Amino acid sequence: MSTALCPGSFDPPTNGHIDVIRRCLTIFDDVVVAVVANPSKSALFSADERVAMLEELFEADRDHLEVHPFSGLLVDFARDRNIDVIVKGLRAVSDFEYELQMAQMNESLSGINTLFLPTNPEFGYLSSSLVKEVARLGGSVAGLVPETVAAALKERFA
Ligand code: PNS
Repeated sequence: MSTALCPGSFDPPTNGHIDVIRRCLTIFDDVVVAVVANPSKSALFSADERVAMLEELFEADRDHLEVHPFSGLLVDFARDRNIDVIVKGLRAVSDFEYELQMAQMNESLSGINTLFLPTNPEFGYLSSSLVKEVARLGGSVAGLVPETVAAALKERFA
């Protein structure tokens, strides 16, 4: 059985995140989505809210997908669950430098490898930060995030 670990802040989950997780579901037997409890930037949604959003979005895949909050090192979370592959989406070359650094640090800490999946070009410009800014300033986020997430953003910025 192969399991992919898809970590992130998911504040909030975007269609780009969902595309990467969906593709992992076609490549791996199981997927564990790890939601960092305390992201480096202050979060709009609590860890419980972000976990609940992802669980709802992947309700139909629950036999093969779990969502968990985590704090501390990602590799400790992975080792506790015997997961040996981390999967990260890459939007552009600008993502690569930082992602490469993290992948190499994680490998040196634990031997756990990171695989990169190029994001669908349709979502290449998409980020949670930009989605929050557009929503905060009253713009439409339709097509950028699922409807449930758009509704949660609307409510949060009401
Ligand atoms: O969605 P993001 O913000 O790009 O996700 C970044 C995340 C959560 C994957 C990364 O910050 C992380 O793994 N944090 C956990 C702490 C950790 O293990 N740090 C060392 C990474 S080299």
